[in-house]
Amino acid sequence: MLVRTLSKTDSCSTVQVSAPAKVNLFLEILGRRADGFHELATVMTSVSLFDQIEFSPNESGKIQLRLSSLDSKISATEIPVDQNNLIVKTLLKLRRTYGNAQLGMDVVLNKRIPAAAGLGGASSDAAAAIVAADLAWGLDLSATDRSEVAAQIGSDVPFFLYGGTALCTGRGEQVRPVEALDGIALVIVKPVSGLSTQRVFRECVVPESPVDVDEFLDAVTCGSPERIAGCMHNRLQPVAESLEQEVLALAKAFDQTGCLGHQMSGSGTSYFGIFSDVDAAGIAAEQLGKQNPDWDVFNVQSLGQNDVIAA
Ligand code: C5P
Repeated sequence: MLVRTLSKTDSCSTVQVSAPAKVNLFLEILGRRADGFHELATVMTSVSLFDQIEFSPNESGKIQLRLSSLDSKISATEIPVDQNNLIVKTLLKLRRTYGNAQLGMDVVLNKRIPAAAGLGGASSDAAAAIVAADLAWGLDLSATDRSEVAAQIGSDVPFFLYGGTALCTGRGEQVRPVEALDGIALVIVKPVSGLSTQRVFRECVVPESPVDVDEFLDAVTCGSPERIAGCMHNRLQPVAESLEQEVLALAKAFDQTGCLGHQMSGSGTSYFGIFSDVDAAGIAAEQLGKQNPDWDVFNVQSLGQNDVIAA
């Protein structure tokens, strides 16, 4: 994420954050856990599609979130502004655990990452809230504090405290950054329909012989987009295809783009392809947009580790 501190008083600063989306380049299910979650091995990479969030601290004791200029394909009804929004949930948790009842925050969210899409938008916003509240409220959190709060909010949230490319295990909350080439060209398409993460996980079957992540990690560290695209994997894709026809339609559409490889991200419904360069990705993005004007098409690149800018 990109973090910019706007104004500084002794203890309070307004903080602007660009919170990136992610795609899952690899996702295997290793087992079902007693707590109802699934044991995973997933490799995620952050990409250059951002929610823009501004956090302005005050001492009103009120935490208020409003949406600004929504992208035409994101409906305001999809984005809660109460405690069901992970930004509000995270700020309340941080205030309860590390702050005091006087702490307030005005948050303005410019939502660009589609919801119910497998792109981690809500999780990325939550990670942004942790970093921003730490700065804006002067909480002085340790890296361990940040990671613990992140894991309590959601399985994907800890990943966004790092960004770049990482192997995530456990229920997804154990993050090991991986050296990887940034700037890989991708096209992401969010179809009209969305899928609930909970539903997709509930319907999936734990494989008897899970695909080992090691070969994929070798491909990532060697940095070749061809090799990465050649061994991508997402165990949740067949389930999502059976629940939502549009995922299958996207697989067929990407087959016609000349991409190096394609698959669904996370629990869907977003779908992405890897391209040899940005020009090839640009042509494909145009083609996919024309094929179905209702699809939301994003021409993006993979990002390196988090770049925190304090100005
Ligand atoms: O952790 P998070 O709240 O993002 O997870 C949403 C839902 O996805 C969970 O309630 C669970 O049903 C499912 N899930 C799972 N195993 C994981 C991660 C998520 O079953 N490792």
